Amino acid sequence: MSGKIPQSFIDELLNRVDIVEVVDARVELKRAGRNHKGLCPFHKEKTPSFSVNADKQFYYCFGCGAGGNAIGFLMEHDRLDFPAAVEQLARSAGLEVPREDAGRDQQRRERSEPIYTVLQQCSQWYQQQLRSHSQAQRAVRYLKGRGLTGQIAKQFGIGYAPPGWDKLLKAQAQTEAQKKLLYDAGMLVERDDKGFYDRFRDRIMFPIRDIRGRFIAFGGRVLGEDTPKYLNSPETPVFSKGRELYGLYEARQANRHLARLVIVEGYMDVVALAQHGINYAAATLGTAIGKAHLERVFRHTAWVVFCFDGDKAGRSAARRALETTMALMNDGRQASFLFLDEGEDPDSLVRKIGREAFEHQLDASQPIADFLFESLSAGIDLGRTDGRSRFSNLCLPLIRQAPDGVFKELLMQELARLTGLDRQTMAGIASRKEPMATESPAPVTAVEPTPPATHAADRSQPDPGPVLRPAQRQLVEKTPLRAALATLLLYPGLASIAPEPDELRGLDSTEARLLVEMLELLRREPDTRTHTLVGSWLNTDKHDFATQLLGFEDLLDDENKAREEFTGALKRIRRDIERQALEQEWLDLSRLRSMSAEQKLRYKEVLAALQASNNRYT
Ligand code: UTP
Ligand code: MN
Repeated sequence: MSGKIPQSFIDELLNRVDIVEVVDARVELKRAGRNHKGLCPFHKEKTPSFSVNADKQFYYCFGCGAGGNAIGFLMEHDRLDFPAAVEQLARSAGLEVPREDAGRDQQRRERSEPIYTVLQQCSQWYQQQLRSHSQAQRAVRYLKGRGLTGQIAKQFGIGYAPPGWDKLLKAQAQTEAQKKLLYDAGMLVERDDKGFYDRFRDRIMFPIRDIRGRFIAFGGRVLGEDTPKYLNSPETPVFSKGRELYGLYEARQANRHLARLVIVEGYMDVVALAQHGINYAAATLGTAIGKAHLERVFRHTAWVVFCFDGDKAGRSAARRALETTMALMNDGRQASFLFLDEGEDPDSLVRKIGREAFEHQLDASQPIADFLFESLSAGIDLGRTDGRSRFSNLCLPLIRQAPDGVFKELLMQELARLTGLDRQTMAGIASRKEPMATESPAPVTAVEPTPPATHAADRSQPDPGPVLRPAQRQLVEKTPLRAALATLLLYPGLASIAPEPDELRGLDSTEARLLVEMLELLRREPDTRTHTLVGSWLNTDKHDFATQLLGFEDLLDDENKAREEFTGALKRIRRDIERQALEQEWLDLSRLRSMSAEQKLRYKEVLAALQASNNRYT
């Protein structure tokens, strides 16, 4: 809603504040050598494994792996979004947060602030009506009838809009200016010349909050069978349907870390799931899920499960979601679909089978790739050539939407497998040159047939990938890439002895890209310090992985050792690059149906080189 905070200010702020003070105000810390230690606020523990490093200005928990800089700490501890955490930190340092494009932003803020306030007052009033209005018993009975307890109603701020044309109007607006404000907030409808009347009457009221918990809109449900069943606030300066999701704020509040988020269709689905302990669902507001929704969602979780109603509308919603999601499937993100039986919605299903069974179904939901191929092959005979060609024509436009990366590569491979296309044809179609067919002819038998391990040390570690910071810290093995990343993170000055980032581009993995990214950044801004590097990953899907790097304890406080480790790691990374090139060559050669004498010779050489490097590794 507001202008961008200039990076220079964030850097200054981080240099100005002391993370030890920030943490100490919230967690009891004791000095331990050059660090401070305390009980981790992010998981239950009896002996302190949470440490704050004053030199490098970051925190890290050796128990659960939480870590970051001062801003990240506030985001996680106080559950704030990035701008709010910056504001909070600036306030404590006595600084004013500057905004780019401050003039327009200021105007917008001046217009929006009173709307947030009046909407909050409306919500309080509706909740009070649910307790005290003469008709409130009907509403309470309705909610109970749908299986909701008072506690859940309170958590979601559910209220009651009483019958009558001007109840809210009279209660909330005395002056013309106040009426105008209530109207701007979407709570009144204008009746030509006769003034205003209440938009919501005799309805159960669901307040919609943004990710910061500000009240931005309402949905109101009739108690009976009238139509429309749900009425929503119109678009206002603070509410945009295409961006907001109902329940996301509540889900964020209930979970420090959202391992996954279930996207459902309705208000009641969100609330009923929470009532049964599945407190990580959100709904779009009577619109199809769009790119803006999903971008927002992926900022808070790495795994989205779509769970739409088991009717025609639900199935077509799933198809649309599939298309929208493809473009957002960066590596490390996960999307899957849970299809309900005809006539079922998440609300009715969870009431029928309960939390555990529902969560099993979520666990087993269909991955987006499977859904893609299954839904597009419906009615097509893949046993026929024209069927396979039609199938690939349907799939390719969708697959092309996916961002370049492992996910897209796997989809191409799967498509090649399903259509039986050979590598060249598929590569031609997809205009990518990487190998993707699975039908490689057997290696030429004249030479040693045992294939070398088909992955270099780097690739044998799966991408740090999606989801879950488990309550227990995942101990990541220190591969050369990780050692290089960690040392660089803790001692950014080492960038000066690193090779050109371009030399490392040969490796294709998230970690390798991160290393290149870091080296490029440090080349541009050689003074960047650990806490700024850590901060640059906030809100990205690299965050959890990057945080783990802070945990290579043995590197801390020993710069010489770190330097040695760094150079050693780089040496091994370069060997891996060479090895990968050899492997690629080996693969390419072994796919040939016949080899020239020269190629046979080269094949032998490559194999020998690979075996030599195997021996070096083991
Ligand atoms: P559904 O008709 O599936 O309702 O609409 P539901 O969520 O199952 O409602 P209950 O269980 O009968 O209370 C799904 C969503 O579509 C929007 C609302 O956001 C609703 O939650 N909707 C539906 C409207 O905006 N207006 C309507 O009249 C109906
Ligand atoms: Mn329903």
